Amino acid sequence: PVKVKKIGIMKKIISAPRGTTDILPEEAILWQFMENEARRQFFSYGYQEIRTPMFEETELFARSMGQTSDIVQKQMLNLAAQGVDAATDSSLSLRPEGTAAIVRSYIENNLDKRERLSKFFYIAPMFRGERPQKGRLRQFHQIGVEAIGPDSTSPYLDAEIISLSVLLLQKLGVNDFILKLNTLGTIEDKNNFSQYLRKQIGSRVSDLCPDCQNRYERNVFRVLDCKNKSCKEIVKDLELNYSYLSETSRRYYESVKAALDSLGIVYHQQPDLVRGLDYYTHTVFELSCNRLGSQDALGAGGRYNHLVQELGGPEVGAVGFALGMERIILARPPEEIPKSKIQVYVIALGERFFPRAFQLLQLLRENKIAADMNFSDAGLKSQMRQANKSGADFVMMIGEEEFINGMATVKNMSNGSQEQISLDKIQDFINERKA
Ligand code: HAM
Repeated sequence: PVKVKKIGIMKKIISAPRGTTDILPEEAILWQFMENEARRQFFSYGYQEIRTPMFEETELFARSMGQTSDIVQKQMLNLAAQGVDAATDSSLSLRPEGTAAIVRSYIENNLDKRERLSKFFYIAPMFRGERPQKGRLRQFHQIGVEAIGPDSTSPYLDAEIISLSVLLLQKLGVNDFILKLNTLGTIEDKNNFSQYLRKQIGSRVSDLCPDCQNRYERNVFRVLDCKNKSCKEIVKDLELNYSYLSETSRRYYESVKAALDSLGIVYHQQPDLVRGLDYYTHTVFELSCNRLGSQDALGAGGRYNHLVQELGGPEVGAVGFALGMERIILARPPEEIPKSKIQVYVIALGERFFPRAFQLLQLLRENKIAADMNFSDAGLKSQMRQANKSGADFVMMIGEEEFINGMATVKNMSNGSQEQISLDKIQDFINERKA
């Protein structure tokens, strides 16, 4: 006979989009640990959760982060307009960060009328159309806080925010990071600083990379962030001595540092730290870990006293930070987080006993005893192997004998002891172990 080989049509396998990752259950344990730890810390500092949409009007980001920022220029992930939206000229983008959206919500909900200081936290995915590499994704996650309101303009609040970010990183298991600190002063100081930088770069403009020659004109601060070698050389030679700061701004900065000193928080002053977003005034900071290579920022933040007003809201100040969760995972030692396991594994020794085993399983679960069962007709040996793998403390078995007597055999997996319990006594078993 002629053998006919069946040729299956190869179906195209669809992968996750570039720059995104799946977090599988064994990794999710670490994420849950980090999120829980962060929430605990936030509550202890008096911060409450806020959740805003994953997309906003594109204009919100353009107006807050600045037209010359890399994010607005190159990394916005815009949504294709659909139906009704296509007819209007509004354009929507996935949020590249949390700050702008939270300020939008603060204004829209008139929160300044409700409280003198709103202290928010968020743990949420953010989206930037960057070229993916280690520590740089298109969908990544931030843990962040924003403190906004009429009572936000105290240097102690800057120090509180910084101390929270430092403590949080430590609690999340990262210890070898440094805190870089700087001040930009008020808007006027920033203008002075900008003019000062132009003067300092002066005759060397033509040595800047083409991008930076443009930045020199449009937003000279961006030159300080450039990764290009020749630009870095020029930045290294700049004399940044805070002469461009007003007396009041200088005093404010001194107070922030004194408050940090009083908590024993070590910082490195870095006068060329300006951050890539336009909204900052006064304090800016960055937490970095040099083991991470080029994407070494674990988190960053600072004060933004004009953003609320800039977006049409009241004249109130604000300060905040965001940590990148994927980068924290890269920076923390790979210590095992104990995973939550089930307490009881239910085994039915034959399909006939499924209905009773299934009811037992339900009873346990309704009573918050984590329980599981394999709905297959596998033999005792194979089911016991699975029970072992599940880490269950107890196995409850129902076979012929148990079925006839209305019992379950309960095996204690830690010492191997075994007893038969009447099914109407299961409640006592449950009560002893209820969480
Ligand atoms: P940012 O410096 O743009 O600041 O981002 C904060 C952190 O998010 C970074 O330090 C990094 O850990 C992480 N991150 C940023 N982009 C990526 C990416 N493509 N892949 C992985 N991780 C990334 C902000 O977003 C400001 N909103 C922080 C802030 C809050 N300032 C005041 N309040």
